[in-house]
Amino acid sequence: MSGSPDLSVDIGPMKLKNPVMPASGTFGYGQEYSEFLDLNRLGAIIVKTITLKPQVGSYPHRSTGVACGFLANIGLQNVGVDRFIEEKLPYFDSIDSPLVVSIGGQSVEEFVEVANILNRQKRVNALEVNISCPNVDKGGMQFGVDREVTRDLVKRVRDVTEKGLIVKLTPMVTDIRPFAEICQVSGADAVSLINAPVGMAIDINTRRSKLGRNMTGGLVGPAIRPFALYLVWQASKTIDIPVIGIGGISSAEDAIEFFIAGASAIEIGTWNFINPSIMIEVIDGIQAYMVENKIQTLSELIGTLS
Ligand SMILES: Cc1cc2nc3c(=O)[nH]c(=O)nc-3n(C[C@H](O)[C@H](O)[C@H](O)COP(=O)(O)O)c2cc1C
Repeated sequence: MSGSPDLSVDIGPMKLKNPVMPASGTFGYGQEYSEFLDLNRLGAIIVKTITLKPQVGSYPHRSTGVACGFLANIGLQNVGVDRFIEEKLPYFDSIDSPLVVSIGGQSVEEFVEVANILNRQKRVNALEVNISCPNVDKGGMQFGVDREVTRDLVKRVRDVTEKGLIVKLTPMVTDIRPFAEICQVSGADAVSLINAPVGMAIDINTRRSKLGRNMTGGLVGPAIRPFALYLVWQASKTIDIPVIGIGGISSAEDAIEFFIAGASAIEIGTWNFINPSIMIEVIDGIQAYMVENKIQTLSELIGTLS
């Protein structure tokens, strides 16, 4: 083998120098993490889901620990698209890594409007359409479990943007494959999965939810990794566009499992809270594995489960 291995991967119009990105909502608006790691080393940066208007998010309690993970209910708190463009976007002029903006909305029209506004922003390289948030009353997971809404929404967002288009899927469906197929035929450049499945935890003394009035939350962390790995394997066997794996990744070994299952890239969520420089360690770990196993390009690894 000559030279160092090539970790680059194409996701629609984006050329990522490596396949490692933060999962939306666990990395703020990017800048918050700049004192912990060099953002230029990341394959891409994915920011928190942005909606048309600012949102205050959920009531407390917003999180509670469970075995091998936690339940989170943030409720898409964000500054809204106008303030995002004015206050958060300029920072990225000093960063080379591609920028993916996650978008949300309560109606198909709102998704389209946010996509349209962001399409005019040169610095934005791709959109990740969040039709899978488990913690909002309208427009999150409710959209992502409905095939016709998914089809309509992806097509209409595709119509208004030339940016890369990633659709983030919910695992709360009986079969992930038709949803992956609908995204592909409707014009998505990639799908990412999984967003958090819904879970509960109850205080047996008060007989109340540990998430207070929110009652339920999204289950995240290593607890969901085997489930996510299975769904990524299923989706990647079904479609030709890239699949981005998400769910409980906390090491290079975990990431490599996802590549073997068929993922072209991965996102890391919860583990950023535990080790803010985890993504750099994962990038270095993938590179070391490739050297050790004489793998020259990532494509030699992707989907090679035997
Ligand atoms: C605190 C928190 C906030 C999140 N916010 C968002 C969000 O704004 N948009 C989104 O698409 N996913 C959001 N997620 C889901 C993550 O992006 C990811 O899909 C999920 O946490 C599973 O990955 P992990 O097990 O590596 O954490 C959030 C997760 C957590 C823990």
